[in-house]
Amino acid sequence: MPMWAGRFSKEIDSRVNDFNSSIKFDARMYRHDIKGSIAHATMLAECGIIDTADSKKIIDGLNGILNDLDSGALEFDPNAEDVHMFVEAELTKRIGDAGKRLHTARSRNDQVALDIRMYLRDEIVEIKSLVKELINTIVEIAENNLDTVMPGYTHLQRAQPVTFAHHLSAYANMLCRDYERLNDTYKRTDRMPLGSGALAGTTYPIDRQRVCDLLGFSEVCQNSLDGVSDRDFCIELANTISILMMHLSRFSEEIVMWCSWEFKFVELDDAYSTGSSIMPQKKNPDVTELIRGKTARVYGDLNTLLDMMKNLPLAYNKDMQEDKEAIFDAVDTVKLCISTFIPMLETMTVLKDNMRAAAAKGFINATDCADYLVKKGMPFRDAYKITGTLVARCISLDTTLEALPLEEYKKLSDKFSDDVYEAISLDTCVMQRKSQGGPAPESVSQQLLYVKNFLNEQDDK
Ligand code: ARG
Repeated sequence: MPMWAGRFSKEIDSRVNDFNSSIKFDARMYRHDIKGSIAHATMLAECGIIDTADSKKIIDGLNGILNDLDSGALEFDPNAEDVHMFVEAELTKRIGDAGKRLHTARSRNDQVALDIRMYLRDEIVEIKSLVKELINTIVEIAENNLDTVMPGYTHLQRAQPVTFAHHLSAYANMLCRDYERLNDTYKRTDRMPLGSGALAGTTYPIDRQRVCDLLGFSEVCQNSLDGVSDRDFCIELANTISILMMHLSRFSEEIVMWCSWEFKFVELDDAYSTGSSIMPQKKNPDVTELIRGKTARVYGDLNTLLDMMKNLPLAYNKDMQEDKEAIFDAVDTVKLCISTFIPMLETMTVLKDNMRAAAAKGFINATDCADYLVKKGMPFRDAYKITGTLVARCISLDTTLEALPLEEYKKLSDKFSDDVYEAISLDTCVMQRKSQGGPAPESVSQQLLYVKNFLNEQDDK
């Protein structure tokens, strides 16, 4: 019998019951639902809205349900409409009439808004700790590769030399911003909607601030219509996760390339690669490809949430029940991706020699050759032109700038002398790029220090 049986003359069609039910996916919020109800019952008694004896029965009953769900002694009823109805019905089954008083001055509309906020607060904390672990892993690999020279690319063409540490430090910085975004999202999720009622508050003398304090929220939602009817915090979290996934996906894409025979910059551990069912030589970077693929899926979740909300008049509409599968999927996916990515990175072999060999090709030191002339007094544009001519000359002679004889240099400018070879050596090119943010080891060490300090300053709610 549904709770609203008094108002209806027919039983609900079983297909509508299934269609309507969210218990399959909202059951995961049961702990938050129960804790929210305990705080509500506590406040109701303190404000004299229900008896202290009833409140105590309710709280004991709810704790019993919590224990039984945790231990598996109690199973969810798949026919229940949602987790909120299930817990309330189970409570009344267990403690009788007192259970029927729990829903005083409350609606499922403010209850569900509370539960998702509480649930997502915990998830944000977990995602933050995974991001932190990932950043620490990246920093550690970077510290072991401060002088591992590799080509830096633009347009996927070899451009200027960097180090593997410098490249990794870029990702560490991106992930620090993701961490900041998670902090920001937490702030706006951390607001307490209970007491909004169905939409228009309540006539009971409730104490919303007390519930807020009991549940550790930083503030109360200020408007009851807003409290029950916005899901902007879900959208914000899906957005934050989407950006984070975008960063993971770019990193994954690079690892896919670096694993190819054409690059061979890294090799993944056998435990983090897969073979082919037909081609015996294959070792595929499936983990990184799946992260790329799952990024699309998280963007889909973000889109679902944005689209679901855009035409909804205030206040609650049942459409909003669709928020859960989308945001839960985004949260589950990002956690799964990061926790697989970390050990994959930790066990990855960096093929330093191959990186260096690639950096030695492709005239990656041409800018430095031009800079050499500038340092001898030539305007940059003239130096740029002369170097371009030298590169063309090297290509026609099938050689490199390092191997080109000094006479060839001198034909184009008498500013060239023996020291040009030192100036354009790969090591000089990298080691001299000491500008703040640049690839020289001392500069990258500073960047990594910044990242470590950033992480140390976080309070890790
Ligand atoms: N299962 C519902 C949801 O997830 C709970 C709120 C139901 N409210 C209502 N008025 N039908 O949104």
